[in-house]
Amino acid sequence: LRGEDVIVVSNREPYIHQRRGDHIDVQRPASGLVTALEPIMRACSGTWIAHGSGSADREVVDKHDRIAVPPETPAYKIRRVWLTPEEEAGYYYGFSNEGLWPLCHIAHVRPIFRSGDWAQYVAVNRKFAKAVVSESKTKDPIVLVQDYHFALLPKMIREELPEATVITFWHIPWPNPESFAICPWGEEVIAGMLGSSILGFHTQFHCNNFVDTVDRLLEARVDRESFNVSYGGKLTAVRRYPISIAWPPEHEMVQKEVPTCRADIRQKEGLPAEHKCGIGVDRLDYTKGIVERFHAIERLLELNPEWVGRFTFIQIAAPTRSGIDEYQHHEAQVRAMATRINGRFERRGPPPIVLKVEHHEPSEVYEYFRAADFCFVSSLHDGMNLVAKEFVAARDDERGVLILSQFTGAARELPEALIVNPYDADQCAAALHMALTMPDTEQRDRMRLMRGLVAEFNVFRWAGRMLLDAAAMRRRNRLVG
Ligand code: G6P
Repeated sequence: LRGEDVIVVSNREPYIHQRRGDHIDVQRPASGLVTALEPIMRACSGTWIAHGSGSADREVVDKHDRIAVPPETPAYKIRRVWLTPEEEAGYYYGFSNEGLWPLCHIAHVRPIFRSGDWAQYVAVNRKFAKAVVSESKTKDPIVLVQDYHFALLPKMIREELPEATVITFWHIPWPNPESFAICPWGEEVIAGMLGSSILGFHTQFHCNNFVDTVDRLLEARVDRESFNVSYGGKLTAVRRYPISIAWPPEHEMVQKEVPTCRADIRQKEGLPAEHKCGIGVDRLDYTKGIVERFHAIERLLELNPEWVGRFTFIQIAAPTRSGIDEYQHHEAQVRAMATRINGRFERRGPPPIVLKVEHHEPSEVYEYFRAADFCFVSSLHDGMNLVAKEFVAARDDERGVLILSQFTGAARELPEALIVNPYDADQCAAALHMALTMPDTEQRDRMRLMRGLVAEFNVFRWAGRMLLDAAAMRRRNRLVG
């Protein structure tokens, strides 16, 4: 890919510059999308177009709104696109995160669709299409469009740059056609996506749902054999590409020895040296099942009181989308629950739950992963969930147990995890007990298998497979004229 005209488009930028008094901090956001794409961009040195969202973002760009990153060893460019408060409210908070996000996740939160938000969504997609045109060095760039913020972008790019290869990846689940029909602009959304040459989802189930939705809503030709959709004279291949992480993990992430991480984290949290610790790392999002996770911990302590005072679950919860009511309610609920459960059991030693509602840089998160006896991922619905894969990558000591929700894409790839239904508190409590008592040899056997899988099916393979499929498609198009 190196040297090709490669452009990534996503809403979230991989580096955010924030002003803190008289200096500027660079943050790496909590986003599975960014975790996956960043190593790809480092390797191929293209241009990443994203919303400039940091308070100091404008201060550090050149006159074309570009900045070279990573800050220490520049390898590619970010081109920042600026949004007005109205655009951000309508396109990001509104249509994307109050509409499409709950529409695509089965978390029983009602989507909200407002025509004003839709108008901003259309306008912002158009703004990004212009940025793609201005960043392309050739007439046939490879454009990697990311996620539900940009459903209309593939078609818009095609109108401007008909020879571009547009590969779109949808990082979240796709609902069944009945659910999708709730969206008042559903036809426009899928017609926009069908501007892509390749449209990727994490699982075959989501590919099937998408193709069924097209069949139901559009006058398109759907070939169930090849999983190609033909619409408006254009062919789109709908394919499954399970996303992953870079392998091996960056050296600095795993540099500090596991025993040192264990000791340091326990000391930092004021816990005894031999104390058992579980870890959860999520954005503070209602799809992540944090409430259900806390229920499971409470149930564990009811059923197995021997763990009271001997075990603490550390939950890192990165604040997210806090301008949205549903997220504010959720945060209040999570905080209240941690306080209630701690109040119930705290008299007998350290608290069962430590809740840390703040941003953590990836290197800090890895230290917690390496310090923990287990990691608990209890998403109610999740496209893939890269936290599960990162925990596995962090454990080069081949220890630690992963408890993983059956409703994540990752559960299909990591059957050696303890797979649970997050709605079943008793089953989760049993898994927690099993994780806390699992013999070292069994931990090692399970972790080895999971590490083998993540090492082989890493994010370079994810991108490589999409690009190979795109190249084959380009050749075929040339042949058939
Ligand atoms: C999910 C989405 C990403 C998004 C991330 C963080 O993983 O699929 O597109 O970047 O959440 O959410 P945020 O709204 O903070 O970017």
